[in-house]
Amino acid sequence: MNHLPLFLKIIESGILANPAKVASYTRTLAAKLADDGETKAAEKILRAVESANLPKTRTTGQVLSPQSMPVDRDSRFSLADESNPEMSELNIYLEPLIQKSVLEFISFVENAYLLTQAGVGVSPSMLIYGPPGCGKSYLAKYVAARLELPLLTARCDSLISSLLGSTAKNIRSLFEHASNRPCVLFLDEFDALAKARDDQHEVGELKRVVVSLLQNIDSLPSGTILLAATNHEDLLDPAVWRRFAYKMNIQLPSNESREKLIKQSLGHFCSSNVKAITTATDGMSGALIKQACEASVRAALIAGKEAVDDNKLLSKIAEIQYHDLIHAKIPDEEKIKKLKEVNNRLFTTRVLNELLGVSTGKISKILNS
Ligand SMILES: Nc1ncnc2c1ncn2[C@@H]1O[C@H](COP(=O)(O)OP(=O)(O)OP(=O)(O)O)[C@@H](O)[C@H]1O
Ligand SMILES: [Mg+2]
Repeated sequence: MNHLPLFLKIIESGILANPAKVASYTRTLAAKLADDGETKAAEKILRAVESANLPKTRTTGQVLSPQSMPVDRDSRFSLADESNPEMSELNIYLEPLIQKSVLEFISFVENAYLLTQAGVGVSPSMLIYGPPGCGKSYLAKYVAARLELPLLTARCDSLISSLLGSTAKNIRSLFEHASNRPCVLFLDEFDALAKARDDQHEVGELKRVVVSLLQNIDSLPSGTILLAATNHEDLLDPAVWRRFAYKMNIQLPSNESREKLIKQSLGHFCSSNVKAITTATDGMSGALIKQACEASVRAALIAGKEAVDDNKLLSKIAEIQYHDLIHAKIPDEEKIKKLKEVNNRLFTTRVLNELLGVSTGKISKILNS
């Protein structure tokens, strides 16, 4: 059944006698149905909500629109962006154990009411950490899409205000905004708040920031799902670290994940040599693999080809992985030998020819010398 999580949320909010939440979830459902082309059903549902004259939110009496997103007092920049990620646009490839934990998290959130009734509360918070480009922000989108909730993304560096005392205020405004309706609050680049430690001139300021963060996390309503992502989990305050019920360590993609990502990124431009391409991308992040694949698809499209050129794709991969050596200011002969030394399998004569523009005959000669 489509939108089952939303139906369950509406039922749960009704049982909990929280009309503001019923209204908020119902409006989200109507918007989703309208997106699906079910405009008549969406209109009927909206009319039912409006005629019931339900309160708009529990605390302020107004549904907060993206326009009312709080801003930093000094820079006037918005403290977060709102989006509505769609499952159909997301294909995430995670290692089986991580995938299992993510699905467990989602299922606990979806069944929060049931679990709370049984006396085992759910703490809907997840910290996502790992190297750059491995899908941390993407995972936040995926969770919001699965839960069919709006995603409020805040870059933590933009929460840090140059005005003394305003960082804690920004955190409070953002959390208050997120508490007003069911949503996923995603604190991206989370370590920036921990890094404030070094940047702030006044020691007391850091304490205020961390204390404010902890207080705000603790008072989030269960309808607000808290996600945070960082590349530097070691910089986080231990008390902040402990607040997250789920901690996902997203690592560089495995062979299997890379193969799936390559096939998906190349689509019908997929070449016959996926295995070799997968091997060549060992050690690369999902973001870089995607970048290489998309560049080759673009080149194939412009050249009017039906599939990507394997050598061009391998060259792109090599270029990303060994950029410095490929562009080093050393003679071609020395460069070719060094590239062969670092990755004999990847730097075939044709890839070297593609990358350096040196003729295949000359490359063979150099390699045989
Ligand atoms: N595991 C993955 N599965 C599918 N796509 C992925 C994966 N990892 C990365 N990608 C692709 O790479 C893009 C960039 O990833 P994302 O921004 O989520 O990385 P990140 O871990 O948040 O990086 P950073 O630490 O730099 O913020 C995604 O939008 C997605 O297209
Ligand atoms: Mg990110």
